[in-house]
Parts: sequence; structure tokens; C-alpha cells
Amino acid sequence: MLNKEQYFPTNVYVKDILDGQMLRDLKKYILGRSGKEEGFKRSNVKGWHSQTNFHESSQCDKLKQELYTMLEDIFKEEQLLGEPSLRNMWANINYEGGHNRNHIHPGALFSGVFYVESFADSGNLKLYDPRPGIHYTPPLYKMEKDFKKELWREVSYPPMDGRVIIFPSWLWHSVEINESHKPRISISFNFTQKLPPIQMDDPVLHYKDATGRGRNIND
Ligand SMILES: [Fe+2]
Repeated sequence: MLNKEQYFPTNVYVKDILDGQMLRDLKKYILGRSGKEEGFKRSNVKGWHSQTNFHESSQCDKLKQELYTMLEDIFKEEQLLGEPSLRNMWANINYEGGHNRNHIHPGALFSGVFYVESFADSGNLKLYDPRPGIHYTPPLYKMEKDFKKELWREVSYPPMDGRVIIFPSWLWHSVEINESHKPRISISFNFTQKLPPIQMDDPVLHYKDATGRGRNIND
């Protein structure tokens, strides 16, 4: 009997928020701000990127609530200590030909995107296999219709209005070129881990090894 055991997964969380009014309100607000505010330069090419304090606007309250609900579920799922904390948020407008180069989000725990308005050829979000070893001698595969997800080396998510995609902040990702004549509007964000006060001798688990033994955060 061949047993397969899987370790070190990369979890990606997806949720569709079906609230047309929120999408319309955010679209109007973002377009309004982009007309008045000079954008930032980050991984975006040919796009408008708002300041990173976008979450301070009351227009984002509903979305923030939804994101906190998701993050609280993720914290439970991943057995994380403390609570999620929204560190920053920014709006993006990718015009025709605009894209985002490969990048990660240093200093955060979970990052993600919320699609406000997109079209079929607006450009997919691409996530890349983070394991450096796998790129060293990549194996060849049979041409089978059902290629298992666990064997994928990159993942493509087409944008979908109202969809939230959350992934670990260390995961390399990019956004393909917008080939639509219409701009793609999205909101990106970073969450960190807000920890309770930790005493030097608290039995706080930093990680568990194969035997299930915990290691203290101070070890
Ligand atoms: Fe990003």
C-alpha cells in the first residue's frame, strides 16, 4: 500500500461577495478619487494605484467588515494566535495595456484582492509555485485531461466582480495585461497578525514538527 502524505500546502481563499450596490458605490468612489489624486508607483505598469490608506475612508466600511469576517475564518482554519489586523489597502485601476509585475507583499501575513469591475479579457491574477526546488529539474507530465491541482506550477484566476482572493503575502504573483478597452478596477489589501502580549515563558507554539511537538516562540 502506497501512502501519500502531503505537507507544506499553500492555501488560497476565495469568496464571492454578492452585493451589487457596494460594487457600484466603490466604483464611483474610486473613479472620483483617481481624477483628483495622483497615483503611487508600485508593481503597477500603466495603471493608477491609490495611496495605501484607502481603508481609512468610510466608503470602505462594508468591504472591511467582509474582509475581517474572512480573515477571522482563516485564522481559525490555520490555528493562528491573536487576530487579523488590516494594515493597508489601496485601489487599482488598470487601463488597457496595464499590468502588475511579479511581486510579493513583504511585512504582511495575508494579502488579497477584491474585484470591483472587470471584463473577460481584463487580465488574470497569476500565482506561482513558491517552492524553489521544484523549478530546478521540472519533470515532464503526460497529457491527461484531468491534471491534478497539486501538480500545477502556476494558477490563473480570471477576475470576477465581487470576488475576493486571499493568499499568503510571501506568494509570488502578477497580473496579466488588460487587453480590454475598459479599465479593470480592484482593491488590494494586506493583513498582519495582531498578537496578545506574550510573556517569555508562555507556551506559544511557533511551529510543530513531524512528531507533533511544539516549539516555543522563544526557543
Ligand atoms: Fe500584489
